[in-house]
Amino acid sequence: MFVIGDIMKDITRRKFLIGGAFLAAGAVSGCFRKNPIYREAKETLNILGDGKIRFVRQHIGKSADTRKILFEGAEELKDAKVELKAENGEVTVSDAKYTPFTDDSAQRHLYEAEINGLKAGKSYEYRIVTASGESEWIKFHAPSKDKLTTLIFPDSQSADYSSWENVAQAAYANNSDADFFVNMGDLVDNGEDHTQWEAWFRALTGVEEHIPSAPILGNHECYDNKWEVRLPNAYLNYFPQPDNRSKEFPRYYYCYDLGECRFISLTTEWDEVNGFKKGLLDEEIEWFQNEAVKTDKKWKIVFMHRDVLQYRIKSRPERKEGISEAGEVFMPLFEKHNIDIVFTAHLHTYRNRGKIKNGKHGENAPYYILTGVAGDVRYPNLWTDHALDRVVAPQPETDNYLVMRIAGDTANIKCYRDDGALIDEAEIKRS
Ligand SMILES: [Fe+2]
Ligand SMILES: [Fe+2]
Repeated sequence: MFVIGDIMKDITRRKFLIGGAFLAAGAVSGCFRKNPIYREAKETLNILGDGKIRFVRQHIGKSADTRKILFEGAEELKDAKVELKAENGEVTVSDAKYTPFTDDSAQRHLYEAEINGLKAGKSYEYRIVTASGESEWIKFHAPSKDKLTTLIFPDSQSADYSSWENVAQAAYANNSDADFFVNMGDLVDNGEDHTQWEAWFRALTGVEEHIPSAPILGNHECYDNKWEVRLPNAYLNYFPQPDNRSKEFPRYYYCYDLGECRFISLTTEWDEVNGFKKGLLDEEIEWFQNEAVKTDKKWKIVFMHRDVLQYRIKSRPERKEGISEAGEVFMPLFEKHNIDIVFTAHLHTYRNRGKIKNGKHGENAPYYILTGVAGDVRYPNLWTDHALDRVVAPQPETDNYLVMRIAGDTANIKCYRDDGALIDEAEIKRS
């Protein structure tokens, strides 16, 4: 299990952003113990009106005309609502559903309100209203029908989430027309540690209020404070994914439509989940074939955490190059169902493989991109290049993000370092 071992070597210290300022947590070597400075300051909330509300954010809906507004109260709020204002000044009101949960001994008072009827390409504003006050109006836009801009962030798991903050803020500042953003799993290093989730959300201040998030599950969301596997309790509570109609595994995998695209967000964490609930992979495959790929949208794009290829590791000569377990399961299905682009993560390196068919480069096949790293857990000199790699990010890698612009029959995908340097560009045409 290389992942934890390598990550633990990289841990040197933690910092947390509190109330807009960094407070150094001091040197914490090799462990994730709680930070007392952070705990004392946890009531430093983003005050909106005279209520204590923080982490106001948008979350992806099933289609372009709907999305969720999420926020968190310091305590249970009275009469929480979301007001939506259209360009003509018309205001509609949605009640916010109270969804409390407790994890890592921290109680959360989460609220979610669904807003509907958004018209393509139009501008809107929303605000949070409670019995004790209201927030400022927050601007956003609904995606247009004919072009779509997506920000894609690889693994952001970190010891110090300031590097995640830098890459997320740079991506949005340089692409303020973005319609939404995707996180490729391993959002946090430890899925139970509530201080990491708080640092992760804080890093998105100024971004997630304006564009919806569409995260996928990674293996690190399935670790508890003792680094043992558990169900991803915090992840499942924080992210109310579009309904997949599953009784056993709601929110684990899902799909949604924006513009001319069907996006399919898969889970590759069936090994982690199997010890608690059986049947995830079989159910997901059935859903993928019978529901997710059934669309008349022009583009079909997949996001999945674990990569489809297996790499040699310099220190482990017995490990062979080839196709990973996730690749063996899904690559034939991607070919069969004409998936256009597949984004993967987990290996903390950026690799563009081009189109792969039957385990070799080919035409009329899915285009595969391994997305890189967007946190401070990096694996310098770990992987030996794969024969299917066409572009590898300059080594050693720092943080990166991807911007995918789709218009008509063309998808343009650019990979940037967090300082704005262009690492790679791919143009994919629908045949
Ligand atoms: Fe990771
Ligand atoms: Fe991972």
